[in-house]
Amino acid sequence: MLDRPYTLLSCSVSIDGYIGNAASRLLLSNEADFDRVDAVRASCDAILVGATTVRVDNPRLLVRSQARRDQRAARGLAASPMKVTVTRRAELDARADFFAVGDAEKVVYCASPWVADARKHLGPVATVVDGGETVEMRRLTADLAARGVERLMVEGGGTVHTQFLTEDLVDELQLVVAPMFVGDSDAPRFVRDGTFPWNTRRRAALVDVRKLGDVVLLRYALSPRFRDAE
Ligand SMILES: NC(=O)c1ccc[n+]([C@@H]2O[C@H](COP(=O)([O-])OP(=O)(O)OC[C@H]3O[C@@H](n4cnc5c(N)ncnc54)[C@H](OP(=O)(O)O)[C@@H]3O)[C@@H](O)[C@H]2O)c1
Repeated sequence: MLDRPYTLLSCSVSIDGYIGNAASRLLLSNEADFDRVDAVRASCDAILVGATTVRVDNPRLLVRSQARRDQRAARGLAASPMKVTVTRRAELDARADFFAVGDAEKVVYCASPWVADARKHLGPVATVVDGGETVEMRRLTADLAARGVERLMVEGGGTVHTQFLTEDLVDELQLVVAPMFVGDSDAPRFVRDGTFPWNTRRRAALVDVRKLGDVVLLRYALSPRFRDAE
């Protein structure tokens, strides 16, 4: 068994590096790219987002294409991957689409002090895992591997990206640049401040550039485990 899943971070950004508006969801991508992301989702065992993304975007995190859902079913898998979120204070609505839509397993990694609270209101809709005093992503990914997750897709937001990248837990980055500016420094960025393994001395390896209508997909290999599966 792997010590952690193959991890693919997928994100779309504006030209000026933002991933959303200050208080609401922002659609940055286009239909062609949504379909590409759908295929990537279908190829994964789990999708992880931060609790703020659950609260702000209310994402369903489902595989949309019926053909891809059927292909997963034929392989004995749930129609959509497991949904995973991480939270400290567990202020999540059990009626959010993350929990309420789809049959896939839902897992919430919660900081120890709030686990009892979380189990009380999310217990009926999700598996609540005690993530420790502070939830550490390396431990979280090891726990996902133990639950059978071999391929993990990280889909935001910036706080989660920062931890996965600074802790060197990402094997592949798929970054889509959308042709627009947000221009508001209160809006969330792709990453927060941090010490990243890639810098002027160690540049990330760009493996592919693809134009999809009016957006561009940049694929980076961030670890020796990178697999060119797409
Ligand atoms: N463009 C894109 O591709 C894309 C994709 C996804 C999201 N977004 C945007 O990203 C924005 C949200 O990003 P964000 O950076 O503000 O938030 P985020 O990364 O989605 O979530 C942050 C929250 O996750 C929990 N969390 C993160 N790390 C944790 C840890 N180690 N231990 C315990 N809990 C932890 C905390 O939840 P609690 O507060 O519950 O304790 C924290 O407040 C939204 O505007 C959304 O629209 C964009």
